[in-house]
Amino acid sequence: MNLTIIGTGYVGLVTGTCFAEAGHHVICVDNDEAKVNLLKAGGMPIYEPGLPELVEKNTAAGRLRFTSSTQEGVEGSDVVFIAVPTPPQPDGSVDLSFIEGVSREIASAMTAYKIVVDKSTVPVQTGEKVAETIKRYRKTKVEFDVVSNPEFLREGFAVEDFMKPDRVVIGVSSPRPVAAMKEVYAPYQAPVIVTDINSAELIKHASNSFLALKISYINAISVICEKSGANVQEVANGMGMDARIGREFLDASLGFGGSCFPKDLSAFIRISESMGCRFGLLEEVQRINAAQMDRFLKKIHDTLWVVKGKTLGVLGLAFKQNTDDVRMSPAIELCQRLLKEGARLRVYDPQAMEKARAVLPEPQYVSDMNDVAEGCDALIIATEWPQFKRLDLERARKCLSHPIIFDGRNMFDTEEMERLGFLYKSIGRGKA
Ligand code: UGA
Repeated sequence: MNLTIIGTGYVGLVTGTCFAEAGHHVICVDNDEAKVNLLKAGGMPIYEPGLPELVEKNTAAGRLRFTSSTQEGVEGSDVVFIAVPTPPQPDGSVDLSFIEGVSREIASAMTAYKIVVDKSTVPVQTGEKVAETIKRYRKTKVEFDVVSNPEFLREGFAVEDFMKPDRVVIGVSSPRPVAAMKEVYAPYQAPVIVTDINSAELIKHASNSFLALKISYINAISVICEKSGANVQEVANGMGMDARIGREFLDASLGFGGSCFPKDLSAFIRISESMGCRFGLLEEVQRINAAQMDRFLKKIHDTLWVVKGKTLGVLGLAFKQNTDDVRMSPAIELCQRLLKEGARLRVYDPQAMEKARAVLPEPQYVSDMNDVAEGCDALIIATEWPQFKRLDLERARKCLSHPIIFDGRNMFDTEEMERLGFLYKSIGRGKA
């Protein structure tokens, strides 16, 4: 099929590339000329495992191309996906100006029937607004259908998630676009659920909020574990073996971050409020998440007393493993708060150092994880990169002025760390 994706951010670029990989002919549109030129020249605006190879392969095969012209994209395809940002406004509600702008552009470029599919995360009832906007701005009475098709991929695992989705959600207001949408997704052999548009939009916000709730739940349990001397990993393993609960998203941490959960939670709370329903449960999810960072900092203070003038090594800057994304990264927030208190930082991340430098210029950036501890008073683990498990602990112990590690991601075994001579403080494992 001929498909167009408007927006080449994480979702748009992965979607377009994976559609091409499945055999569709795809045009990716972005109004950022520099990004389009970079992609045309074989460059990558983001780090995402497996993506560069697929972009190169499908561009070479003639199934994937990039342009800055919406007109060209709309003319060239029957199905046009909207994958533009929906950033938060200062009050937590969603800025839908990109969605509105693209809807107008599509409307004025349409000369034949189009299926306009929203893939961006949007408040419930946005599809209705998109349809109204297209009706208002189309140049002739050309027919169209609006579809909601939320995306559930995770950064760092985006290609894998896209190729093997748990489910494909198709929200429609008439049966007309269903067959074409099923054909788009046929190569992935995933279960397809067809709903009304409002339900599809709600599935996305309800899913992300539920996953955030799961993390805050285990983080709240981690507090009880520290008070009682229990081990949060054992508790999570025991809970997770119940198929109704599941083990995923039960890893206690210094809190969730990224460009989705914090934003989507605030948005969903706002959306509910605007409908006269206060979603107190989600407010508590936010509160627990913020408290988790405060509690981690308290552990550092309780051990080091004064942070001012001390040198701390920080492993991890990305908001999670496998990405160079530092947006709303707990690791960055931690660094900023330590810097504000007068700490000196030596930092390392396998992929996110370039992006981190732009928001965090003060620390000393170190190119090898095993050099970070050199001359430090303590080491902090802030992101769950798997390679941190292979840290040369013997060397770290010798380099640190005192063998102290604060682990915000529970990467090491507590008993083993004690045996190696570390004062090792992690999350929810033993009395704090
Ligand atoms: C999240 C959802 O998982 C995707 O399904 C969704 O499509 C995406 O948002 C989106 O709306 O675009 P993502 O933000 O890429 O994906 O990252 P996650 O893997 O969900 O992790 C989010 C945060 O939670 C990270 O900071 C991570 O470290 C933290 N986390 C995750 C925990 O603290 N504990 C866990 O057990 C799992």
